[in-house]
Formats: sequence, structure tokens, C-alpha cells
Amino acid sequence: MTPLPVFILLSLICFCKSDDRLTHAKPLSTGEKLVSSGGVFALGFFSPTNSTANSYIGIWYNNIPERTYVWVANRDSPITGGSPGKLVLTNNSDLVLSDSKGSALWTTMNNITSSTTGTAAILLDSGNLVIRLPNGTDIWQSFSYPTDTILPDMTLPMSTNDPLYTRLFAWRGPDDPTTSDYSMGGDSSSDLQVVIWNGTSPYWRRSAWDGALVSALYQSSTGYIMSQTIVNRGGSFYLTFTVSDGSPSMRIMLHYTGMFQFLAWNNGSSSWDVFIERPGPSCDIYASCGPFGYCDSTEAVPKCNCLTGFEPDGVNFSQGCRRKEELKCGRGYSFSTLSGMKTPDKFVYVRNTSFDQCTVECSNNCSCSAYAYANLKNGSSTFNQSRCLIWLGELVDTGKYGDGSGENLYLRLASSAVDKESNILKIVLPVVAILLIFTCICLVWICKSTGKRRMKKLQNRHTRQQSKDSKSDQLDNENIELPSICFEDIVTATDNFSDYNVLGKGGFGNVYKGLFGGGKEVAIKRLSKGSGQGADEFRNEVVLIAKLQHRNLVRLLGYCAHENEKLLVYEYLPNKSLDAFLFDATRNCVFDWPTRLKVIQGIARGLLYLHQDSRLTIIHRDLKASNVLLDGEMNPKISDFGMARIFGGNEQKANTIRVVGTYGYMSPEYAMEGSFSVKSDTYSFGVLLLEVVSGQKISSSHLIMGFPSLIAYAWSLWKDGNARELVDSSIVENCPLHGVLRCIHIGLLCVQDDPNARPLMSSTVFMLENETAPLPTPREPVYFRQRNHEIEDQRDMGISLNNMTITMPEGR
Ligand SMILES: *[C@@H]1O[C@H](CO)[C@@H](O)[C@H](O)[C@H]1NC(C)=O
Ligand SMILES: *[C@@H]1O[C@H](CO)[C@@H](O)[C@H](O)[C@H]1NC(C)=O
Ligand SMILES: *[C@@H]1O[C@H](CO)[C@@H](O)[C@H](O)[C@H]1NC(C)=O
Ligand SMILES: *[C@@H]1O[C@H](CO)[C@@H](O)[C@H](O)[C@H]1NC(C)=O
Ligand SMILES: *[C@@H]1O[C@H](CO)[C@@H](O)[C@H](O)[C@H]1NC(C)=O
Ligand SMILES: *[C@@H]1O[C@H](CO)[C@@H](O)[C@H](O)[C@H]1NC(C)=O
Ligand SMILES: *[C@@H]1O[C@H](CO)[C@@H](O)[C@H](O)[C@H]1NC(C)=O
Ligand SMILES: *[C@@H]1O[C@H](CO)[C@@H](O)[C@H](O)[C@H]1NC(C)=O
Ligand SMILES: *[C@@H]1O[C@H](CO)[C@@H](O)[C@H](O)[C@H]1NC(C)=O
Ligand SMILES: *[C@@H]1O[C@H](CO)[C@@H](O)[C@H](O)[C@H]1NC(C)=O
Ligand SMILES: *[C@@H]1O[C@H](CO)[C@@H](O)[C@H](O)[C@H]1NC(C)=O
Repeated sequence: MTPLPVFILLSLICFCKSDDRLTHAKPLSTGEKLVSSGGVFALGFFSPTNSTANSYIGIWYNNIPERTYVWVANRDSPITGGSPGKLVLTNNSDLVLSDSKGSALWTTMNNITSSTTGTAAILLDSGNLVIRLPNGTDIWQSFSYPTDTILPDMTLPMSTNDPLYTRLFAWRGPDDPTTSDYSMGGDSSSDLQVVIWNGTSPYWRRSAWDGALVSALYQSSTGYIMSQTIVNRGGSFYLTFTVSDGSPSMRIMLHYTGMFQFLAWNNGSSSWDVFIERPGPSCDIYASCGPFGYCDSTEAVPKCNCLTGFEPDGVNFSQGCRRKEELKCGRGYSFSTLSGMKTPDKFVYVRNTSFDQCTVECSNNCSCSAYAYANLKNGSSTFNQSRCLIWLGELVDTGKYGDGSGENLYLRLASSAVDKESNILKIVLPVVAILLIFTCICLVWICKSTGKRRMKKLQNRHTRQQSKDSKSDQLDNENIELPSICFEDIVTATDNFSDYNVLGKGGFGNVYKGLFGGGKEVAIKRLSKGSGQGADEFRNEVVLIAKLQHRNLVRLLGYCAHENEKLLVYEYLPNKSLDAFLFDATRNCVFDWPTRLKVIQGIARGLLYLHQDSRLTIIHRDLKASNVLLDGEMNPKISDFGMARIFGGNEQKANTIRVVGTYGYMSPEYAMEGSFSVKSDTYSFGVLLLEVVSGQKISSSHLIMGFPSLIAYAWSLWKDGNARELVDSSIVENCPLHGVLRCIHIGLLCVQDDPNARPLMSSTVFMLENETAPLPTPREPVYFRQRNHEIEDQRDMGISLNNMTITMPEGR
């Protein structure tokens, strides 16, 4: 190209005003423009191509033929009707845009009242318009009020706490700079991530900053580099981009379609190359895979998947995924490491921790479902901090990157759902067990040495009197708040275990009513010396029950170990046990349907607590009518945890060499194989439910209406649509038939032969409490015939079946 045409071209451009600044004396009128000193950017009045009616003040690239606006001053208050406008720098150092009638459409609002001679508005080569005082201080800059574009060297604050906080807001259309609903900026709840919003709902989200994102490099198709940095200025985060010298023009914008784009000017094709565009294809859009789903970009076409240990919750991913195995609080979980992940949204940001502390942070919180840890320090970045993210509850908007970026996400799963790499548990469990036993030994020791003083504490329990106990007492208190009671006091309270005070006889010993000084009534379980409950069961029960607090569980108040005597002191419940009501013709009549339903629901909730909601996972193993006590308001309370087991380890079910329980209530797989799980309790619950509805004993030795068992009878009636006949004759007149039939249906679901087919107690509670919840169809309980043989066998062996707890030496 010869110098001549260039000169002509330049002189044509310079035909108009091309100063780089605007002063008090020199306002800017329609048709004029400012050009930055290096000729890179221009500022002036413009009208979008197809709309001549409205005009705006804007900044565009001066040397790029395709008119590209990077900033608009008055995007929401255009000069209308094609009238001329004027941009003036006032004596208050403010820029004011006014139309031909003199009304101000836009102003910078600095309101500086001091002397301002020499102040100027200058357009810089970076594209920044500044108002500069004579001493060189900039009191205003357009970079602090971006429209839809980030230019290199501009900083975008991540936090709304920042006074200059702004988001990018897209244009409304290709020719309409009006503020649209799409915006982009820092997620101010954490400052750790960038989000695009459509109105107020997130449309796309970037992974939270990690070491790589804090200083990331992006390469344009022509090989130029744009580097992204997150800077930390006094604890506030800013996003900034830089380009190397000699690069073509590059910018980042929020397109009017809501797309977040990185663009570079391609001199060859004379057009803008978009080299990064988000949201990417398909499931990159915010949360499109639902809770616990993730967008898998390792595939050629990204698609939704479920996180490890999860399965789809519906036909497609719109409902997300659910756990294959429920996570139970306190025990039986481990972390699965997922690499290359886009971290989910809605995290809790824990500052200043080590990786190990972050792990503990998640392990200690039952609602924690995952965590991630990163060090934000990278190279010359201004961070010296780590970030620990923990997620409570659902994980939304997770992704897996296919390009090697992303970070490790540590996902908390029920341990049996994790592949066989849970060796840690095999080490941790014995340690926990040893600790528990050690605690028990300590307790027994302390009982013996300080039993008398502890008795006083029991009497004062409700007044919570703070006694000046010895240090060893206080130490003990911290571990387990359960007083040991002196044997002599128990002898006094029960009148030397007088027969008059016997409340009931259990498999492992008698239960006495006790009266302590001060008139406090208690129930005392005396474990018979010859009973199967040895020291192990005793410790088990003490430790377990002391930790359990639920309105549907009997409360343990204290215990006593004295030579061969082992005693447990419970709260006293005046209404005795459920079987006393259920199978007693005189009391039966006060036991109406609403009360029965309340009892059923209460037992279900108590069981759910044992299985899932307490800090331990506990399987009762001997749920039956005589182990459910009723308080003054007929609230059921589950008792007798002597055979309860912590269901630990990475196993879903366990086997025992000692089968304990009560025939009829025992699930087939437990009775036959000694294999027990929470589903064994579900089975017992189902039996109990059928008993409560029917008023019939499962263990009655006579055949019910010619059927071999209550379950077979219930099934037969239900199958033929005659379930109403099962209902106890004393309530059948006055009960809502629908509710009762629903209960029978749920009971039949619980007593299914296949443990996997039985619902978890969480589902059972839900089905019982939600009249409209759909119920699956139960399968026929085929086992009853076999179990009947079983009963016959045992009868031959001389074991009484009469509602008695039996202990088998060996499971088969
Ligand atoms: C602008 O108008 C021209 C002709 O009037 C038309 O071809 C073009 O598509 C319009 N551009 C937009 C963005 O509407
Ligand atoms: C601004 O100040 C100059 C002199 O300092 C004065 O002549 C002019 O009237 C002032 N303009 C306004 C709008 O007050
Ligand atoms: C600017 O200052 C004037 C007078 O000092 C006051 O009336 C006006 O409200 C101020 N404007 C703003 C936006 O603070
Ligand atoms: C410039 O002047 C302004 C107000 O007159 C003052 O606030 C600021 O500190 C000055 N800056 C410098 C660098 O002197
Ligand atoms: C943005 O939200 C509006 C309604 O709020 C909706 O009509 C539109 O489809 C959304 N845009 C996208 C890209 O989802
Ligand atoms: C630091 O940043 C570079 C890119 O600038 C990235 O490749 C690297 O992975 C980061 N290092 C860490 C520890 O994140
Ligand atoms: C862009 O291309 C023109 C010719 O098409 C050339 O004169 C100019 O030097 C190029 N600019 C850059 C920065 O490469
Ligand atoms: C997912 O399924 C729901 C209901 O089954 C349906 O309404 C929705 O359109 C489906 N979504 C997709 C992406 O197929
Ligand atoms: C971070 O934690 C360390 C020790 O845990 C402490 O010494 C330091 O002061 C903490 N820093 C901040 C900024 O909280
Ligand atoms: C779990 O952590 C959150 C946030 O730190 C807290 O609000 C909640 O109380 C914690 N829950 C438990 C059970 O510790
Ligand atoms: C490290 O971070 C703390 C605050 O988090 C800050 O006070 C301190 O100055 C930082 N140190 C360095 C060397 O950057």
C-alpha cells in the first residue's frame, strides 16, 4: 500500500474533531468524537445501525472496520427523535449528557465542588474514559461502569460489597444497547465463581476458582494468549484479563443471546474470532442434569450422568439422581474421589484450613455430602490462601471436564456403595469398638467407686443441680452422661426385688417397678445371671441407649453393675406395653383406630431414628408388641435394646452366630441364615403393624381361620380384596376404611420375603404419614409355610413358642 491513500484516508478521518480529551471549554456535540492518543479507541455519538431514531454516547474500536462498541454511557436513556446531543464537563467535574432541549439524560455524578480548572475527561488507549484532576488523580472511570464488555486491564469486582460493584449486562438485541435480563459477574455469596444470570436465575456457572483458574491462559485461534487472573486486593477478589504486547484487539463480552464470549480480532479475515463461548453445548447450562447428576464433557457430545454411587431418579435427568444407598448419619460412609470435576454450586466456603481439616470439616457434619480443597496460590498470584468448599445436601450443576482441567471432588457415600477400597474403615472400626469397650470399662470402674454420690445425682436429675463432684466425675460426665446407681439403693427401691413390683418378664430377666426417694418412679430391668445377656450385651445396651434420645424410645436413666448383677434403670411408663392393650379384651376397646395409627406411626419413627437418624445405625432385632411401651398419652416407646447391634462397617447386612429374637417377628433370612439388616426390623415392624390392625397375635399357636399364620391370612384377604375382614372387630365399625386398608397394604410390603423388596423405614414412615403417597404392590410372602415348618421343628425340640424370646446357639 502506498503512503498516498493512507494519507488521504487519515485526512478524511481527521476531518472531524479527534482530540483525546474533553474539557470545560470543549464539549462534545453530535458528529464529533474523541480518539485516544494512540488511535485505538474512539468515543462519540452513535446510532445503532438500524435505529436512526435513538442515539447514544459510546466507545468503539477506532481502527477496526466493523463497528464494535465496548461501552455505552446512556444505554437506558437514549437521545430520541434523532435530535442532537451534547456531552459537557461541568464545573463540578461531572460529565453530563443533555439533549437539544437541555435536559440531562446521563451524568457521572461525582459532585466535586472544589476548584476544577484543568480537569479533563480523557479517552485512553485502553478504552477507558477517565475524568482526571489537574494533579493526575482520576476521580471517575468508565472501566468501573462496564456495559457488556471486559477489555484487557479492566478489573471486574467479584463482590457486591465492593462500592464499584458491577456486573456485565448484555444488550437487548444486536442493535439495541438497552440493559437486558442477561447479566454476568461474581457470585457475591462467596466471590469464588462467575455466574451468568437470566433475570435472577443462574443460567451458567463457572467452577469455583482453584489454583489453575486463578491464573489461567486462553489461546485464540490465531495463537495469541489472553491470560486471566484473579487478584486479591485487601481480601476482595477482582477478575482481570491481560494480553501480551503486539496482540490483536481482544475482548470478553456477554452477547445479547446470553453467551459469554472471548473474542480476538482476526486481521486476516477482518472479523472477530470467538475462541471461547459459554454455555457450551447441551448440558453445560446451569443445573441441567438435576441434583447429584453431572454434565459429562468427556464424551464427544456432553451428556448427563449420575455421580458415582447414584442412579437416575426418573426417566431422564430432569429430576436428577438419587443415592443407590442412603447415607446414614454417624457410621458407614467413606469418600469417593472424583477427578477432573467442575465443582457444584451452593457450597459453604471454609477459609484457612489444611486439606485434612477440610476432610474433618465434612466428616463431622452429617449433612455434608462432598468437599473439595484447593490452594489458590499459583505463581505470582496475590493469594496466600487455601479454599475448602463443603456441600450440605444436594449437589447441583456439577460437571466433569474432558480437557484435563477441573479438580478432585470428594463425595461422601455409604461405605458399601464404595468399591472395595474402603480399607480405612477396616482399621477405623476396630479402633472405635475398642474405644467403646474402654469407655464401658471406665464406666463400670467409676460406678463402683462413686456409686453412692451418683445416686444423689439421679434423684436431682430433673433439677439439674450442679454438684461439686470430684474431677473424675466430671471427666466421666463428658464422655457419657449416664449415672451409675448403687446396688443397695436399687434393692431399697424395689423392696428387695419383691414379686409385687414385677412389671413384666422378659427373655433376659424381670422388669421391676422401683421407687426412689423423692417419689421418683422408675422401671428396673434386672438381667438374670443365667440369661443369655452377658457382659457384652450389657455394655452394648448401656452405651447405645444412653446415646439415644427420641420421643419414641424409652429413656435410660442409669445403670448398675454389682458383682454378677446387672441392672438398667429406665423411665417408668404407666401404661405398660403394647401387647397388654392389644391382646387384652378389656383394654382392647379403649384402643381405637386413631390411637392405633398413632402407635404404628410412632413405632415407625422410633425405628427410623434407630436406623438412620441417630448418630449410630442400630438394628433392634427384637421388635415385638411386648417391647413397645406406652406412656400416659399412649405414645409408643420402643424398649429393650439388649440385642440391638450397631450396624457398622462397609456391609449392608451382617451375619451372626447367635440368632436372638422372637419367632414370628423374625424375618426369614434372619431366622434361617442369621443374616440381619435394617430390613429385618422392617419385617418385625410389618408383623407388629398387622397385629395392631388385627388384634391377633403372630405367635398364637392355633391357626388363624385355618391359615398357617397371621401373615398368610392377611395376604389371602388382601389379595382377594377382603382386607377389611382382617381389621380388629372392636374398631372395624368406627374406622376410616381407606386408612386401615392402606396400613395393611404397608404391612404386607414390610413382610415380603425378599429383604430388598421391603421398604426402608424412611419410606415406611413417609407412606404412613402421607395418605396420597403411591404404594408399590407387595409380593406374596411365600416364606410363611417354611417358617411354619421351622416352628414345628423347634416345637419338637421342646422350645416354647409362647411369645418368648429364644436364643439359638448357631444360625444355619
Ligand atoms: C438492518 O437493516 C438492513 C436493511 O435495512 C437489514 O438487511 C439488516 O438485516 C438489518 N440488521 C438487523 C440486525 O436487523
Ligand atoms: C464554570 O466556571 C466558569 C469560570 O470558572 C464560569 O464562567 C461558568 O459560568 C461556570 N459554569 C457554570 C455552569 O457554573
Ligand atoms: C450534588 O451536589 C448538589 C449541591 O451540592 C446537590 O444538590 C445534589 O443533590 C448532589 N447530587 C448528587 C447526586 O449527590
Ligand atoms: C489531587 O487532588 C485531590 C482533590 O483536590 C486530592 O483528593 C488528591 O489527593 C490529590 N492527589 C494527589 C496525588 O495529590
Ligand atoms: C431466560 O428467561 C426467560 C424468562 O424468564 C425465558 O423465556 C428464556 O427462555 C430464558 N432464556 C434461556 C436462554 O433460557
Ligand atoms: C497455575 O496456573 C497454571 C496456568 O497459569 C496452571 O497450568 C497450573 O495448573 C496452576 N497450578 C496450580 C497448582 O493450580
Ligand atoms: C492488518 O492487515 C493489514 C492489511 O490487510 C496490514 O496493513 C496491517 O499491518 C495488519 N495489521 C496487523 C496488526 O497485522
Ligand atoms: C424429562 O421428563 C419429563 C417428565 O417425564 C418431561 O416433562 C421433560 O420434558 C423431559 N425432559 C427432557 C429433556 O427430555
Ligand atoms: C490461619 O490458621 C492459622 C493456624 O490454623 C493461624 O495461625 C492463622 O492466623 C490463620 N489465618 C487467618 C487469616 O485466619
Ligand atoms: C453443618 O455445617 C453447617 C454449616 O457450617 C452448619 O450450619 C450446620 O449446623 C452443621 N450441621 C451439623 C449437624 O453440624
Ligand atoms: C496472607 O493473607 C493474609 C490474610 O488472609 C494477609 O493479611 C497477609 O498479608 C497475606 N500475606 C502475604 C505474604 O501475602
